[in-house]
Amino acid sequence: MLKKTMQDALNAQMNAEIYSAYLYVSMSAYFESLNLKGFASWMRVQAQEEMMHAMKFYDYILERGGRVMMAAIDAPPTDWDSPLAVFTNTYEHEQKVTALIHTLVDLAVKEKDHATSNFLQWFVGEQVEEESSADAIVQQMKLAGEAPHALFMLDKEYGQRIFQPPTSSKE
Ligand SMILES: [Fe+2]
Ligand SMILES: [Fe+2]
Repeated sequence: MLKKTMQDALNAQMNAEIYSAYLYVSMSAYFESLNLKGFASWMRVQAQEEMMHAMKFYDYILERGGRVMMAAIDAPPTDWDSPLAVFTNTYEHEQKVTALIHTLVDLAVKEKDHATSNFLQWFVGEQVEEESSADAIVQQMKLAGEAPHALFMLDKEYGQRIFQPPTSSKE
């Protein structure tokens, strides 16, 4: 059985993952408005991944006999100054999420909740990937600079990303 403090913290992280999905859908819509279909598609896939993260928390809370509680989701920004600003925001956002995950691990350790600590390790690894992929795009966009054809090439390349659904929600 989950302790109340742990259950509240896991519900809060589920909310943060849904906010991430919401943020990336908003970024996708911004790219659509610029007719950068590849980046729009990348962001859509990113949003799907975040919903999958949220559902991992959902399933885990249930599996431990806890109570899932949905809360209000903050409104994300709707506009950015440039495509580079969007990916800089993405990178910064992922760093914030990493800090949230690490705080959750600290709480699980403090509460001696080893099962939750083990569950969270998947997210520790996932955040390393999330930060590194966002940072890579920021660096490539900086190299592309003001050259429109370089931006279009990146748009095409990133448009190839596809969502890989987990074979089970527990994975
Ligand atoms: Fe996430
Ligand atoms: Fe993420």
